[in-house]
Amino acid sequence: MEEREFQELLKTRTDEAEQIIRSYLPPEEGFQRTVLEAMNYSLLAGGKRLRPLFMGETYRMFGGSGRVAEPFMAAMEMIHTYSLVHDDLPAMDNDMYRRGRETAWKVYGEGMGVLAGDGLLNYAYETALRAFDIVRADDRARQGGSGEPDARGGEDRSGVLTVARALAVLAEKAGVYGMIGGQCADVEAEEKGTAVSEELLLFIHEHKTAALLQASMMIGAILAGASEEEIRAVERCALNVGIAFQIQDDILDVTGDSGELGKSVGSDAQNHKETYVTVKGLDQSIADVEKLSREAVNILSGLPGEHSFLERLILMLIHRRA
Ligand code: IPE
Ligand code: IPE
Ligand code: MG
Ligand code: MG
Ligand code: MG
Repeated sequence: MEEREFQELLKTRTDEAEQIIRSYLPPEEGFQRTVLEAMNYSLLAGGKRLRPLFMGETYRMFGGSGRVAEPFMAAMEMIHTYSLVHDDLPAMDNDMYRRGRETAWKVYGEGMGVLAGDGLLNYAYETALRAFDIVRADDRARQGGSGEPDARGGEDRSGVLTVARALAVLAEKAGVYGMIGGQCADVEAEEKGTAVSEELLLFIHEHKTAALLQASMMIGAILAGASEEEIRAVERCALNVGIAFQIQDDILDVTGDSGELGKSVGSDAQNHKETYVTVKGLDQSIADVEKLSREAVNILSGLPGEHSFLERLILMLIHRRA
């Protein structure tokens, strides 16, 4: 795939993800209007929309062509955004800028920052659950639009079971055995201020960042009907992408530009945080981003379907500046 073709497709796919996210935003009304505004403020501040992109693209790669992945794409971005809203709180990284705007807690206050994060997390599941309506509608359409169970009196459960499986992956990878677990180890390592072992650092990167990328790609694969073996391969691929992504994030906190990044640089140093860069050094960090990303592409190349766009995306992230 030529560079120009890739850039055009990246723009198209990002715009599509943006439209899908917008279509699932909650209306800002009622006595709880402020929390809804704070949720939408954070969601609409921009962001690369990488997780929905990876999900949609993996779904396509395994032959998915319906709309069932859409509520999951929106839900994934809600969970990711909630993780950022809470990560920026004074009790965590104490950051003032995110996605080119003031952080949610700076604008709405700390209490509302906590609630906006909670709201996004819960609304993510409310959104993902809507995938059941889509599979039921597809099912009815297949049965001739009668709206009733087929002649055998039963519904086709496979779509429902697939959505349930995707929900289980979403829940696990976002929770204490996923992102929250990584954030726990991250916060604790910072509070202790003692040297971080390589093993602990990898645990942090794998959980706080790779887990949501794994969920994104795995859910895409599951909803498209990939085999067990393929889902495991996708999980390994996304592990490499995610660790590389967090190493690059650590690098950019040192070498990046806050204008390009849309968030403060030097936040890790200010918090006296041990990162991949402080543990391994800048040169090794740069080399490891490249190595892990190449490994991810290697795993991808063993999978069926069209994956040139995904490959290009992973390689592009090696040199990202934002
Ligand atoms: C930032 O994620 C937090 C990390 C996991 C490193 P992104 O760099 O994907 O942030 P947005 O969504 O583009 O704002
Ligand atoms: C955060 O890692 C990962 C999350 C789960 C939010 P960082 O704290 O390094 O992310 P940034 O640099 O604030 O985006
Ligand atoms: Mg953090
Ligand atoms: Mg942070
Ligand atoms: Mg960071």
